[in-house]
Amino acid sequence: MVDLYALARPLLFRIDPERAHALTIRAMRQGVFPKCAVLTNSALAQTLWGLKFPNPVGLAAGFDKNAEVLAAAFGLGFGFVEAGTVTPRPQPGNDKPRVFRDPGTQAIINRMGFPGTGATVFKANLEKFLAGKRRPPGVVGINIGMNKGQSEPSKDYAYLIRMLAPMADYLTINISSPNTPGLRDLQARAPLLELLSVITEERRKACGAHPPALFLKLAPDLDAEKQEELAACALESGIDGLILGNTTLDRPETLPESFRAEKGGLSGQPLTEKSTQIIHNFYALTKGKIPIIGVGGVSSGAQAYAKIKAGASLVQLYTALVFKGPSVANSINEELVALLKEDGFDHISQAIGKAHGA
Ligand SMILES: Cc1cc2nc3c(=O)[nH]c(=O)nc-3n(C[C@H](O)[C@H](O)[C@H](O)COP(=O)(O)O)c2cc1C
Repeated sequence: MVDLYALARPLLFRIDPERAHALTIRAMRQGVFPKCAVLTNSALAQTLWGLKFPNPVGLAAGFDKNAEVLAAAFGLGFGFVEAGTVTPRPQPGNDKPRVFRDPGTQAIINRMGFPGTGATVFKANLEKFLAGKRRPPGVVGINIGMNKGQSEPSKDYAYLIRMLAPMADYLTINISSPNTPGLRDLQARAPLLELLSVITEERRKACGAHPPALFLKLAPDLDAEKQEELAACALESGIDGLILGNTTLDRPETLPESFRAEKGGLSGQPLTEKSTQIIHNFYALTKGKIPIIGVGGVSSGAQAYAKIKAGASLVQLYTALVFKGPSVANSINEELVALLKEDGFDHISQAIGKAHGA
């Protein structure tokens, strides 16, 4: 089969990354994006938090910020899609240019700052998707964050939960994007536990007996002490899952000079090992009691498998979709099936956390 993306990529890479993304979203909305067959394999399907995941590869937050292309994203073979980050009010985000890619290292630096249509339009888009006659199999997550300048973050999170929680399979509390001033400060015991108690209460009020699962998305840039502190908070607060992690502020030496000088969060291949290590650490710190979604530089089955063995039950990606194209989820799933077989496992659940010993 002709790899259409390989033909389109040189053209897309000649234009500004954010413009290329907008064109991609438009193509997906209009249904002209290539569709892959969803890989379904009994070795990869899991039920977690009562949700059925047809495969463990998800689309990470930030790609479909306004919940505009959920159906098309499932059409690319993802087992779950996380829309957002959505903020209560629309906002423009930081000044452009604010997204930079480096094909040499297969990395992106972004300092978008949550541009988006706001919760009202997001909700209308999501309602349209959910009302669709043929909702594809797969799980829908909503990633929520605060507007820039909000001095009382819990107000924004509570508002978003009241408005959107009943429509979500799971909710992600994003406190780890590096481009909203003050957001990462919530990654500390006192403010986090306070925020999570407001959030769990709002979720109970909004959803009653059937609340969506609640995940916390953390930065990969946490020192050992912080990791210990936050793992304890996660266990204490009763959240359902951890997403590890967001983009990094690190600038490895291997990045070209002009690229590494850009401010913002780095994603893609240079993040792979760092995020796998943090998954490994949190799995150990939480004794495997909180399922982990591993994200950061996943581009191949082997990279996904390393995160699963480190303790991730599921993985997500964003940057690899830019560099590898629309078939990336399916190739990773195919490679995972082969890797499980090689290790003598019948099901993915047997491999989760295996790097920690029996
Ligand atoms: C352009 C861009 C925008 C992003 N926007 C968000 C966002 O709005 N919310 C969020 O939680 N993560 C966001 N992310 C982070 C990704 O969800 C993911 O955690 C990170 O990129 C690491 O995964 P990757 O290496 O597969 O891209 C964004 C990433 C990129 C590249």
